[in-house]
Amino acid sequence: KEEPIIFSIETSCDETAVAILKGRNTVLSNLVVSQIDIHKIFGGVVPEIAARKHLNYLNQLTNKAFEEANIKPEEISAIAVTYGPGLVGALLIGLNFAKGLALNLNKPLIGVNHLYGHIYANFIAFDDLEPPFLVLLVSGGHTMILHAKDYLHFEIIGQTIDDAAGEAFDKVARLLNLGYPGGPKIDKLAQNGKPIYDFPKPLYHKGYDFSFSGLKTALLYFTKKNDNYKIEDVAASFQKALIDTLIHKTMKAAKDLKVDKIIIAGGVAANSYLRKRIEDEKAKRKNMKIYFPPLNLCTDNALMIARAGYEKFIRNSFADLSLDAVPNLGL
Ligand code: KG4
Ligand code: ZN
Repeated sequence: KEEPIIFSIETSCDETAVAILKGRNTVLSNLVVSQIDIHKIFGGVVPEIAARKHLNYLNQLTNKAFEEANIKPEEISAIAVTYGPGLVGALLIGLNFAKGLALNLNKPLIGVNHLYGHIYANFIAFDDLEPPFLVLLVSGGHTMILHAKDYLHFEIIGQTIDDAAGEAFDKVARLLNLGYPGGPKIDKLAQNGKPIYDFPKPLYHKGYDFSFSGLKTALLYFTKKNDNYKIEDVAASFQKALIDTLIHKTMKAAKDLKVDKIIIAGGVAANSYLRKRIEDEKAKRKNMKIYFPPLNLCTDNALMIARAGYEKFIRNSFADLSLDAVPNLGL
């Protein structure tokens, strides 16, 4: 049987991305244009600018993807597009572009949930990976522990009751005047610091939910009260408090639910301390398998959207042209 070729579009936030995937994991093209240089001037993503930039970039990026894949647009099997969660104006640009293509090429449209995309990024990197498994989903908007019983059903085991992990990184970076986006900046600084400060780990011993706003506030008070600190040490201490909590709760959930496979997904999975901690856990627990995507598939990209689209394609789960953007789409 011929393997389907999925063309995909991701425009939920400040990355304009398209990809072409053949079958389960043959990557024909994977292109991302980051808008970080524009948004960092404003200290965060400006939704209006994000939408306009998506509009500017999508056409050229699409042409380049087909060129790189060395196929004609007529050869694709379907168009997959992120329809939520994300910024409504940004989502609508990708969605309308996808609809135009679907109409023009007479190909089916597939609506993809961005969160599923992050999780499915792992299937591109690890062909033998199969549910059931536990997911630690950590991005700018979400922090969740999920129990994936099969490819389509994810049960929420725990989630943040206030800030997402990535959001905490971004807010703390702003507080320390490090600029946007905060995650990579704190990650880099922390590599030259020592975690000598004892910042709180809210809810550490309580269930599977997370809370990071208290940690952020503690850090704010700390910087107000002291002026003789090394910013590298503050970054390392904050990062340790947050990541240690993520790892602790995920490991506890895996043990309690008797799951022996864990996958990490989302932008914060790019964090070098998190990745190191996971390698340590792997070495400690030989009967536990832990997966995390390569760096370029952790942060927003369209390849993960194509991979999630593939699962819908093989199940004939298509959308019609009335598909709308859902900014607060859940799992
Ligand atoms: O998954 P993603 O690209 O977008 C969302 O769907 O939210 O995640 C972006 C988030 C941002 O908050 C960013 O600061 C964080 O991921 N991030 C990191 C790192 N790289 C990106 N956080 C910690 N360490 C990193 N190296
Ligand atoms: Zn994302």
